[in-house]
Amino acid sequence: MIQKYSFENSIPTDSVVMDIPVSTKMPEYLTVVKEEKHIIYHMKRQDIVYGLGEATRGINKRGYIYSSNCSDECSHTEEKQSLYGAHNVLFVKGKRNFGLFVDTSQRVTFDIGYTDMDQLLIRVENGGFDLYLVEGESLDEIVAEFRGLIGQSYIAPKWAFGYQQSRWGYKSEEDIRNVASQYEQADMPLEAIYLDIDYMERYKDFTINTETFPQFEQLVSDMKEKGIHLVPIIDAGVKIEKGYEVYEEGVEKGYFCKTEDGEYFTAGVWPGKCHFPDFMDKDARIWFGSKYSFLIDKGIDGFWNDMNEPALFYTDKGVKEFFEFADTLRGENLDIDKVFALRDKMEHLSNNEEDYRSFYHKLNGKMICHDQVHNLYGYFMTRAAREAFDLLYPDREILLFSRASCIGSHRYGGIWTGDNCSWWSHLLLNIKMMPSLNMCGYLYTGADIGGFGCNISEELMIRWIQFGVFTPLFRNHSALGTREQELYRFKNQDVMRNILKLRYSLIPYLYSEYLKAAFQNTMLFRPLAFAYPEDAHCEQVEDELLLGESLLLAPVYEQNARGRYVYLPEKMLCIKYRSLTDMEQTVYEKGHHYIKAGLEECIFFIRPNRLLVLGNEANRTTELKEEAYQVIGFEAEEAVYELWNGYVVKNGLRKPKKKCYTL
Ligand code: NOJ
Repeated sequence: MIQKYSFENSIPTDSVVMDIPVSTKMPEYLTVVKEEKHIIYHMKRQDIVYGLGEATRGINKRGYIYSSNCSDECSHTEEKQSLYGAHNVLFVKGKRNFGLFVDTSQRVTFDIGYTDMDQLLIRVENGGFDLYLVEGESLDEIVAEFRGLIGQSYIAPKWAFGYQQSRWGYKSEEDIRNVASQYEQADMPLEAIYLDIDYMERYKDFTINTETFPQFEQLVSDMKEKGIHLVPIIDAGVKIEKGYEVYEEGVEKGYFCKTEDGEYFTAGVWPGKCHFPDFMDKDARIWFGSKYSFLIDKGIDGFWNDMNEPALFYTDKGVKEFFEFADTLRGENLDIDKVFALRDKMEHLSNNEEDYRSFYHKLNGKMICHDQVHNLYGYFMTRAAREAFDLLYPDREILLFSRASCIGSHRYGGIWTGDNCSWWSHLLLNIKMMPSLNMCGYLYTGADIGGFGCNISEELMIRWIQFGVFTPLFRNHSALGTREQELYRFKNQDVMRNILKLRYSLIPYLYSEYLKAAFQNTMLFRPLAFAYPEDAHCEQVEDELLLGESLLLAPVYEQNARGRYVYLPEKMLCIKYRSLTDMEQTVYEKGHHYIKAGLEECIFFIRPNRLLVLGNEANRTTELKEEAYQVIGFEAEEAVYELWNGYVVKNGLRKPKKKCYTL
């Protein structure tokens, strides 16, 4: 059951797709202090608080303070309260189970037992909001109700479930062709190569550097022939440059954000000074969305939208103030206060709050300050692209995912979780974030496999892909200047290859469970406590996940570990995967176990009376052949697995195609 309470919400977010009448009667367990915009719940000792999508720390969010403020945050450390997304939903499990969704474009703080260990305090910083209270029996039921409220999740094309390679620093056609051929020579599957900002002419959206990519269309079609999709990046900022069509058009038509004086707002990003499309303005959205045709008409069928919090490296005003301040210190003996002040000034040049308050959007004929809609910017960029794809290419499946997001954007595209590092703790963070993202509707999602920043070790890469094989977005991406981490570069190529082959073999199940999650508003990844609510042990488990209806995952995520402790809430079949022809199967009873897992062994579990449909060996999703699928499971005389292997579109409605499998 969903109740809606409205607190002067004036800025539409379009996060919700259902019309729910406004209630006035708040249940006695929630206190709303209207003037302060506070919502308070007194947590019981045993209460667990799930949610918040893309956030740091545990699956159980209790014990810290978080905020939703889409940020260009390149350091995902524990103290960070906000990353790139604004996912304002919590699910409380305890004596009473319920969900709370704060629907607003404003920043929201979630103090979940940080200031007072037993108090959950939600604070909306500014402006109005709608509060949705979702009550139900189980957490599964509550999440499904909430997901119904926000609308069906985006369904990515099947090829996007293949393995994908990316790196900031593929500078030319040769680099791209080389990556493709190295994977081919190593007999490693590969379905997409990403084009980071290096493919553009001086980092200008919808341009190609013809010196380094002289035959772009030929490259796209040669790759396609090999079954490899090229996926270019699009940034939010548009370079200010005379003669550059996108800039000229945007200026002429008034599609960029403006300052109070009616000038176009300017800030620096990769290309230097930029203007920023006003995605809140429908006409600007249609215009920007139509620009993707420049690449689609060259054969491109996938995009990633970046820097759309939006990231602002500097403004002229900030730079001026910085130099003025630095000048006051010229020749001084810089003591602790002065040197720190100088450093702070430098740090605050980027993504400065004051800059975010200094520009405006056009929304339903009114000018509205950016800080009022900051959290919607990336969402509306994703929407601009998707609406254009639907309009201009209704019959094509185009991959799209974004860095910044807000609940609602899950209907238009996926997200990746941004600039993590090649750290063991970030592999664990990847594991913990997946169910939280699913709760918010983000199903096509994943982290930069191997880590974006810092240098990866081979062991971490192996363990990371052993988890990555289960995430819908399975993309190896790294930053300029870090150790190269394409899988063919490592010594244990056979181990890497076997893991990639496992991924392809898992795709029938993964895609099927993905479709079920999208059509039925369920989660692909669930914390154990969702499926075993009566088992108190499960509430404590943060490093195991359920994947779909049949699998339990218990990845190894520690350096030098050659196994791990696993808690099984019921008897299960352990698969110790070494290769497609070497899978050890052992049944374990309910309880705690130490399971050995050598570096070359990927372990996962099958629940009793559930089945896993495994695909044939393949290097592309198109090579998966249903007649060659196998089924594994145990205690399953009567178990049936319904494989959803695609969908048909009839009168604009999608209907899944299903096929039943038994042992
Ligand atoms: C920031 C993104 O998060 C990262 O993935 C990308 O490589 C860089 N921008 C450069 O475009």
